[in-house]
Amino acid sequence: MEIKEAQFIVSNSDVAKCPAADRPEYAFIGRSNVGKSSLINMLTNKKNLAKTSGRPGKTQLINHFLINKEWYLVDLPGYGYAKVPKAERLKWEKFLRRYILKRENLYCLFVLIDSRHEAQNVDLEFMEWLGISEIPFSIVFTKTDKLKPEELEANLKAYEAKMFETWDTMPGYFISSAESGTGKEEILDFIENVNQN
Ligand code: GTP
Ligand code: MG
Repeated sequence: MEIKEAQFIVSNSDVAKCPAADRPEYAFIGRSNVGKSSLINMLTNKKNLAKTSGRPGKTQLINHFLINKEWYLVDLPGYGYAKVPKAERLKWEKFLRRYILKRENLYCLFVLIDSRHEAQNVDLEFMEWLGISEIPFSIVFTKTDKLKPEELEANLKAYEAKMFETWDTMPGYFISSAESGTGKEEILDFIENVNQN
């Protein structure tokens, strides 16, 4: 699938004020700075559709983008960034969890993980919560352009081993790079498939 049109619709912090839940929706979540906004720009072939920054904590709201007039991509704030004041963080986490639990047209949540790092508790616990809450999700390992192929392979193996401590099967995953475009076709094909079913 190709994205021909990507249009910013609205930002807000309240799931009740999101656009009508009348079409498929896919959202990107993960630790601050993992590359959520950059991945949305890469998938949509736009440089500045979603605002990115070298400094963590850039995206602070739920941002809806209408794709090909048919479905939504959603950019979410990051979780787990220690430098954001705690009260602020708790507020985000509350509206993020509400959005995830209440948004009935959320067909799949993409959980982004930095491919360079070893498994972090905040991500593992978040995915466990998704599992318990029966929220469909896929993992996207980001920034793979920063690794040699053999390093990436070793990191993926280690991540799988860690996941198997709590999961019977490894959740589906993609590898991506917003720099090189790796993963674009696979992620868009996956979305197209889900849209059609
Ligand atoms: P928050 O909105 O703060 O939660 O961050 P985010 O997850 O949206 O990250 P963002 O897309 O703003 O990217 C953070 C930084 O990582 C920026 O400096 C990006 O240029 C860089 N970055 C994102 N994706 C990639 C990638 O695939 N490869 C490389 N090399 N850099 C990346
Ligand atoms: Mg962002």
